[in-house]
Amino acid sequence: MSNLSQFIAALPKAELHLHIEGSFEPELMFNIAERNGITLPFDSVEALKKAYEFNNLQEFLDIYYQGMNVLQTEQDYYDLTMAYLQRVKTDNVRHVEIFWDPQGHLERNIAFSTQINGILKALEEGEQLLDISYRLIMSFLRHLPEESAFETLTQAEPYLDHIYGVGLDSSEVGHPPEKFARVFAACKEKGLKVTVHAGEEGPAEYVWQALDLIQVDRVDHGNRSLEDDKLVQRLVADQQVLTVCPLSNLKLQVVTDLSQHPIPNMLEAGLKATVNSDDPAYFGGYMNDNLNALQQAVGLDKAQLATLTRNAIEGSWAEAERKKLLLAELDQVIAEFT
Ligand code: ADE
Ligand code: ZN
Repeated sequence: MSNLSQFIAALPKAELHLHIEGSFEPELMFNIAERNGITLPFDSVEALKKAYEFNNLQEFLDIYYQGMNVLQTEQDYYDLTMAYLQRVKTDNVRHVEIFWDPQGHLERNIAFSTQINGILKALEEGEQLLDISYRLIMSFLRHLPEESAFETLTQAEPYLDHIYGVGLDSSEVGHPPEKFARVFAACKEKGLKVTVHAGEEGPAEYVWQALDLIQVDRVDHGNRSLEDDKLVQRLVADQQVLTVCPLSNLKLQVVTDLSQHPIPNMLEAGLKATVNSDDPAYFGGYMNDNLNALQQAVGLDKAQLATLTRNAIEGSWAEAERKKLLLAELDQVIAEFT
């Protein structure tokens, strides 16, 4: 392992952009399908992995929704979440903010309680046994009507103590943030934090909407913000955190090559960029894989890697005491490596 790779491994990381359904590894998917008596439309783990070639976001989403169809019981949701936590423990991830897409399961008649109880059981155990703190974020599917998001919010009502924030994901182009302005206003009234996917495939205009119409607490992806200088100035002035996902961007052809990834420009502009894995089982890597691939492709130095890590800890929704602890650990790692 190179010195920089060791540095990446040692950093106390926070992951802020992770879809738990996107951490569904093919081996676990086949196991769960079998115990639920479901036949996947692929003969083997290898055949499934071969299908992970995407020209755009929608091609990925079609496979992602198909994959999550095998989840049925509380145990399934627990196993999925626990597998992710155990995997990122080996990457020294210390805090996670996890999205899940309740509508992707409700439309298959899986009760809201089944989903959230399984996920929360794993998150609580992960906090106790693996020392990984967490926040759970309920994400609305933007290809569905706003009415469906409102219905989901109603279902979430008994669990709002356990849901820290709400998000917006799925097919971006044609489904701008403004379509969901009312439901996010209702979420804010309930004290929920708000983050939306914007500027992944969609234009800078969608990021403006996220800021001005939704008043988001952070922005997921945000890559295309760089096309608009005024928007960059605004994001810097507001200290908005961007949860950027390098291997996702490569696999979904948001960038043509990792050497063209905008993270160095984002840091140079003073944007609070962070590195995250998005859907690691589909995009070929977890946190350290993303940081290593990006480092090698664009030549990040230790100071830039430390900044990305600090941005994530500071920009997380962890409790103040937890942030303080992780920032102290970060300073210690930086000192050890200089
Ligand atoms: N759902 C899961 N991953 C996503 C992504 N990268 N963009 C939009 N929706 C998603
Ligand atoms: Zn995402």
